[in-house]
Amino acid sequence: MTAVDAAAEVGELDAAVAEQAGELVERLFGHTIATLEMATIWLGTRLGLYDALAAPGTAAEVAQRSGVLERYVREWLEQQAIAGLVSVVEPATDPDARTFGLSAPQRLVLADASSPFSGGSLALLSGGCGAALPHVLEAWRAGTGMSFGAYGDDVREGQGLFNKGDYDERLVQDWLPALPEVDALLSRDGARALDVGCGVGWSTIALAGARAGLSAVGVDLDEASVMDARANAVDAGLADRARFEVAASDADHGTSAYDVAFFFESLHDMAHPIEALTAVRRALRPDGRVVVMDERAEEEFAPDGSPLERLLGACSVLHCLPVGLAEPGSAGTGAMFRPSTMRAYAEAAGFSEVRTAPIEHDFMRFYVLVP
Ligand SMILES: C[S@@+](CC[C@H](N)C(=O)[O-])C[C@H]1O[C@@H](n2cnc3c(N)ncnc32)[C@H](O)[C@@H]1O
Repeated sequence: MTAVDAAAEVGELDAAVAEQAGELVERLFGHTIATLEMATIWLGTRLGLYDALAAPGTAAEVAQRSGVLERYVREWLEQQAIAGLVSVVEPATDPDARTFGLSAPQRLVLADASSPFSGGSLALLSGGCGAALPHVLEAWRAGTGMSFGAYGDDVREGQGLFNKGDYDERLVQDWLPALPEVDALLSRDGARALDVGCGVGWSTIALAGARAGLSAVGVDLDEASVMDARANAVDAGLADRARFEVAASDADHGTSAYDVAFFFESLHDMAHPIEALTAVRRALRPDGRVVVMDERAEEEFAPDGSPLERLLGACSVLHCLPVGLAEPGSAGTGAMFRPSTMRAYAEAAGFSEVRTAPIEHDFMRFYVLVP
């Protein structure tokens, strides 16, 4: 019996209301399937089960490759195949003889972290937010916030992977050429870039690797992110030109020390964004610029939003607003980072002009701030 049939049976509800309530509860049913399947993707990612499917295998073979109990593996493989996330290669009637594998698209999304289609970051981010829910509930009840670090390894690593492809493939190749004045500043001899809220450092490393003579400093309040960033710079062979410090965004970054400062999807998470922008303005050379990349929220609030608005709204409720309320006197910005917020913060921090940069991006908007 569907929810609509059930309501009709009660006989008390207006037919139109019952139909809409039925549609809503069916929508929630779909969300439940999606949420639970996302959790099974998180489990498979963390247990290395997708990696263990690099070659087709039976449950016993995948269990042996991954070190996970065979009974668990068989259940997971069957569930993944039912969900269309894993393929059946040899459909034997004997469950022990059934062979599973990944199709080419499944491999690109689920088992290849370097692929532009990788969904690994989505699994880590949603798993990490799910695991943090009891703490989020406490913060909401107490009217306090949560530091970015309190969300743990999944969110830190997931966030790093989410933007890595863009920093590796587009930051230097497409974004800087679209910002000629910024590109010219970074082309000067001995140019220095500051990356505020650098996370695990992929943007800082990409900047430092852009051209010889350019060095970049990444700062982040989260110690675990900075440790990861340092290790990533060593692996990239750029540890001498991409340096990292644990520091608050509104700390003293020096005076006239940098040509360009960047905030890559970090300003909205900062407890004191105006103070952060003010500190960075002081740290710039007189002709320096600030580049802010942040969420592409609509200009104004409106109900029944696009998928991006829905994503940003949910991220804000579960993660970005608690992070943006982490300190006493926080601004509490959240992920619905609208152009009007950017303009208000920049003006309060003493910038004379905010330009929206001509960079196309599905999720992000780019601004150039002129001191
Ligand atoms: C959404 S993540 C973005 C990280 C990275 N820029 C990226 O694009 O993946 C926001 C980052 O801002 C950092 N952050 C938040 N508040 C901060 C503050 N007050 N000072 C410095 N960093 C801060 C967090 O620790 C986190 O690494």
